[in-house]
Amino acid sequence: MDYKELANKAVEAKAKALASYSKFHVGAALLTKDNKVYQAGNIETSSFSLTICAERTALFKAISEGERKFTAIAIASDDPNFCPPCGACRQVMNDLCGDIDIIMINHKNELKQMKLSELFPFPFGDENLK
Ligand code: THU
Repeated sequence: MDYKELANKAVEAKAKALASYSKFHVGAALLTKDNKVYQAGNIETSSFSLTICAERTALFKAISEGERKFTAIAIASDDPNFCPPCGACRQVMNDLCGDIDIIMINHKNELKQMKLSELFPFPFGDENLK
């Protein structure tokens, strides 16, 4: 699957985001090595800190289905700017995905592609626990 198609899947997932409080709807589409896509939106609750981002929701969906190898994640929001993953998602993606491609989509449907390692250099990880 090419990244334009993956980006479209992220835009599609945004429609199912449950952003009742912030009204900031985010969609993510996570691509596995064998070309499967896991989609999710962000999910908010009245206890705001229990919110979970679209990226982690997609990733936990995939992990809970037994997936372990990923190549890219696309992220869409209604923000005119590109929506980069938050710090918590960067940590979780680094631990569970490795150095995947991050594809961001802005409101004009333009794509910006970066490696996770560019967004999250010098991470804490397994190496530190040895
Ligand atoms: N959010 C995401 O789902 N992904 C991001 O990359 C940034 C932020 C969500 C969390 C919260 O529901 C809302 O956007 C506003 O922060």
